[in-house]
Order: sequence, then C-alpha cells, then structure tokens
Amino acid sequence: LKILAVTSEAFPLAKTGGLGDAVSGMAGAIDAMGTDLTIMLPAYRGVRKRLAHAQRLGRLNGLPGGDAHLVGGYCPESGLRILLLENDALYDREGLYVDAAGVEYPDSAQRFAALSLAAARVAAGVPGVAVPDVLHAHDWHAALAPLALRQFGVTGVRSVLTLHNVAFQGCYPAGLADQTGIEPSLWASGGLLRGDCINFLHAGIACADKITVVSTNYAREILTPEFGCGLDGLLKARRADLLAIPNGIDASLWNPACDTYLRGCHFDADDLRNKALCKRRLQAKFGLNESPRTTLLAMGSRLTGQKMADVAVHALSRALQAHPDLQVCVIGCGEKDIEARMRELAERHPGRCAVHIGYSEDIAHLLHAGADVLLHGSRFEPFGLTPLYAMRYGTIPIGSRVGGMVDTIDDPGWTAGDEAMCAATGLLFPGDGEDDMCAAIDRAMRLRGSQTIWRRMQRNAMRKDFSWERAAPAYVQCYQALCHEVERMEQ
Ligand code: ADP
Ligand code: GLC
Repeated sequence: LKILAVTSEAFPLAKTGGLGDAVSGMAGAIDAMGTDLTIMLPAYRGVRKRLAHAQRLGRLNGLPGGDAHLVGGYCPESGLRILLLENDALYDREGLYVDAAGVEYPDSAQRFAALSLAAARVAAGVPGVAVPDVLHAHDWHAALAPLALRQFGVTGVRSVLTLHNVAFQGCYPAGLADQTGIEPSLWASGGLLRGDCINFLHAGIACADKITVVSTNYAREILTPEFGCGLDGLLKARRADLLAIPNGIDASLWNPACDTYLRGCHFDADDLRNKALCKRRLQAKFGLNESPRTTLLAMGSRLTGQKMADVAVHALSRALQAHPDLQVCVIGCGEKDIEARMRELAERHPGRCAVHIGYSEDIAHLLHAGADVLLHGSRFEPFGLTPLYAMRYGTIPIGSRVGGMVDTIDDPGWTAGDEAMCAATGLLFPGDGEDDMCAAIDRAMRLRGSQTIWRRMQRNAMRKDFSWERAAPAYVQCYQALCHEVERMEQ
C-alpha cells in the first residue's frame, strides 16, 4: 500500500503548530504498520539541506508559479521518506506562510496550488517517482489535489482529505482562479469557486473520496453553522464519506522519562521528584521567583483569537491579582497586538509573570514539564495536542469545552465531589469570556489546595495512552477500503 501524504508542514522539517506534529506522528505510525508512506511538502528555505540522501528525481513543468523539481530523500530524525517540491521563487523565504512582519505572502494561492497540482502529477505518473495508491491531502494547502486528480483523468489513485482546521480554507478573490492551474471548466463543478471567491478547502471537500476529521467531537461540531465556518452545508452533503479519526501524540518525543530537551531531568508517573526541578529551571529561565510552592500556570500556543489569547490577557491579569500564590509564564507568537498586551502584562508583574514572544521547541518542552497547570482556552479546537503533551508531564490542563478537548480531557464537572475528581485528568470550562476563564483558574487553584486530589489527577493524566499507534489502524483501514473499491471497479 503506497501512500503520498501531502502537507504544508511536517515536524521537524517545517512546523508552525499542531499540523506539523500531527502529520509526522501519524505518518510514522502508518508507515510502521507496513505501508509505504512518503510525505510531500514544499522545499522551504533550508529544508533540502536537512534531508539525508537528497537527490533530484524529476522535473515538473508548467506548474503554478513556474517549473519545479521533485527532490527525494529521508528525514534523518523520523526516518520517513520525503518528497520535496522545489521552486525557490515560491518557497525559499524566511517564513512558511508569513513574512517577518507577520503578513501573509501575497501569492499563497499560487504557492499551495502548486503543491496540490504537483501531488496530482505524481499520482498521474512522473518517471523515477513511485505512483501512490492513495493521495492523502492535509488541510487547505493540499486540498486542490483531489480536484487536480480529476483534471488529469487519474482514476486508479484514491484521495483522502484530512481536516485539521476548517477555519483556514484558502479563500482568495475569484480573479486568482486562473493562477491555480485548475481548468476553467472545473472551477464551478469542482467546487473551486464559492460565491465570489475561490476556496481550496471547499474544492477538497467536494472532490475527495474520503474526508477525515481529527476528533469525534469536532466532526460533529463542523456540521453546525457555529463551527462549520460556512462549509457545514457541504460537509453535511458529504456526510456518508466523512469519518472521524482522532489524532494521537508522538509518545516517544513527548515523554518525561526520556525527553532530550529536559537534559537529564527526567521523571514519570511513579516518581515525580524531578518535576520540581524542571519547575525550578522553568522559573529560572523565565526570570520568575524560584518558589516551589507557587502554582505555576503556563500557556504555550499561537497567540490568536482561536486560542482565546485576547481573553487570556485580561483573565490572567485578574487571576494574578486574586491569587498571590500564582505565577504565569507564556510562550507564543501570533497577532501583534496580543503579543504586545502579553508583554505589558509581564511588565506589570515582575517575578510573577513572564512572557516569551517567539517560537522555541526547547522552551515548549520545558514549559510542559515544569508547569503545574496549562491554560489552553479555545473558541474552537479541532483536536488540541498541547493539553495532551501537558498531561504526559503531569501538568493539569484547563481547556475549553470544545472540539477534541471534550474527548480527551476527563472532567466529571464543576459540581463533582472529591471522589469523582480523583478520576479526572484535567478541567474543562464552557464559554469564551473573561469570567469563564477566571472561574476555571479559580477552580484549579482550589483543587491544587488538596495534594491528594492533585496527585491523583496528575497520575491519571500521565497514564493515559494517546499514542499514534492506537490511532493509525483506522487510517490504514480507510486506505484499504478505498483501494478495494478501485480493484472492484477495475474487474
Ligand atoms: P494548533 O495546531 O491549533 O496550534 P495544537 O495544540 O494542536 O494547536 O498544537 C500546537 C503545537 O504547536 C504544539 O506542538 C505546541 O507546543 C506548538 N507551539 C505553538 N506555539 C509555540 C511556540 N511559540 N513555541 C513552540 N511551540 C509552539
Ligand atoms: C490544527 C488544530 C489543532 C490540531 C492540529 C493537528 O492546527 O488547530 O486543534 O490539534 O491541527 O491536527
């Protein structure tokens, strides 16, 4: 079974958020099940150099944005086979999607149409490059691939589209349709045009053979106008081909017992002593007062509206006033005004609140290991990897009662007694207001007052198995079912 996974991110080669982690974790587990999987992504700046055995395999003329090369190789860290789409004019830039000022590159439609079309060309057959049985597209960046398969008349390759986030759709003015490489006769019938815009995800949902969603609860939510972001109607129409396959986490990379980022400071569910040392290191790194007894609340995510970072600025300010024994540390980047307001918050509370604006894998690991509580508010959350990383390190997540977190965080509820809370793994809160978030932080502070309950919650959280090995078989079954369809059609 040959799979071509097409994506804009794959950890550790290219990552800005959970997509990169999810694609690589999933790919590794699927490949380990005896399939033959290749990840295809753009050759962003510096990525080719990171591959082992990189070599040019073929040339693709006439793609959006100009001619490109296919470069094959291996990711040394994961061992996975990689196919890069090389076109320096499109991809050799400072950021993946945005420039240094945080502004989206003006030719995004062309950059990712090229990725989608190149993947479909590989499926149609490029000398020297293996033809896959299944083309697996991730998110909007690869979502034109199923439509391009139609355009090229490829019938022997099935397509799967995984929805990691329907809020990002690749929506651009209709005038850009002729830059996508999709034939005008397919613009309307293939779902590329939607109203007066082109919409990559809309086309993908319309044309993919199967559509998978990264959690069961989010798969329900996106069929409603509140979470469907305008695509709920089309998603409902395709319900028969819609499948929830919950994500997993890379349990070897995010493992407190052997995490290389923790530099010897390891711990597990049976012996949490070194977690206190990680807390001290985290406090030192962020310039916080090094007191073991304070409750250290961390936030590590994109600083955007999705993550309720705008609300967190106010809620954290109130919580710091209400709880003298609370410390806060934040790592993140995103919307510039939220970044600035987070910095101001830290300036107002020296020693008690620290903010690192930027992206650092290293700090993210220490954050999950050293904190007591992880605040992960979300207005919508397709899956939510970060709270699961926190749980692995005995850091109790406070998450919004939305999306994947409803499936992954066990919280018996606000009125639950001590006994019920001893079975919990985290806290969930409804709503997206400042009061909602403050109430959830207050609740966490109360629970932390009881060492017995807190320890039990930590152990429950650390012992939960969310590894990709549990999640991968559902993908393989999905691929196999699609391939049987092709065999039946050919008989
Ligand atoms: P999303 O994909 O919506 O951003 P997830 O929680 O699923 O949310 O995944 C986020 C991933 O991105 C996690 O691996 C998290 O550690 C990482 N991340 C987000 N912001 C940063 C940052 N500033 N530095 C390091 N890692 C970050
Ligand atoms: C998206 C979602 C996040 C999910 C990740 C991986 O970025 O926002 O909830 O965990 O993809 O699927």
